[in-house]
Amino acid sequence: MNQEALVEEAKKAREFSYSPYSHFRVGAALLCADGSVYTGCNIENAAFSPTNCAERTAVFKAVSEGKKEFVKIAVVGDDKTYLSPCGVCRQVLMEFVDPMEFEVIMAGDSDSIKVVKLAELLPESFSPMNLKNHVKKDIF
Ligand code: THU
Repeated sequence: MNQEALVEEAKKAREFSYSPYSHFRVGAALLCADGSVYTGCNIENAAFSPTNCAERTAVFKAVSEGKKEFVKIAVVGDDKTYLSPCGVCRQVLMEFVDPMEFEVIMAGDSDSIKVVKLAELLPESFSPMNLKNHVKKDIF
């Protein structure tokens, strides 16, 4: 799926945003290596901290259905200018992807789109590789 189509999927997912507190709707669309796409929206909560961002909703949906190989994600905020993913979502993505390869397509309601590799958004990161000599489970 190309960049524009993935952004469109993220925009569709944004329609489902549950954001009664911020009124800031966010949508995301995650492309898996097998070609499948998982979408997500932000889901807010009256207690505030349980709020889940759109990107994490998409990742958690995918992982919970057995997908762990991802190619790129599109994220669309509620603004003309593009939305840059929060730090928590950057870290969650880092768990599953090669940051030098994985693309983050940041979009908004104008044509302003910015495409970067995850490594640019989270340099000097802490990742599963840092634990490779310490974990018993074979995740590498
Ligand atoms: N939000 C996202 O869904 N993704 C981001 O990367 C940034 C922030 C959501 C969380 C909250 O529901 C609203 O935007 C305002 O912060």
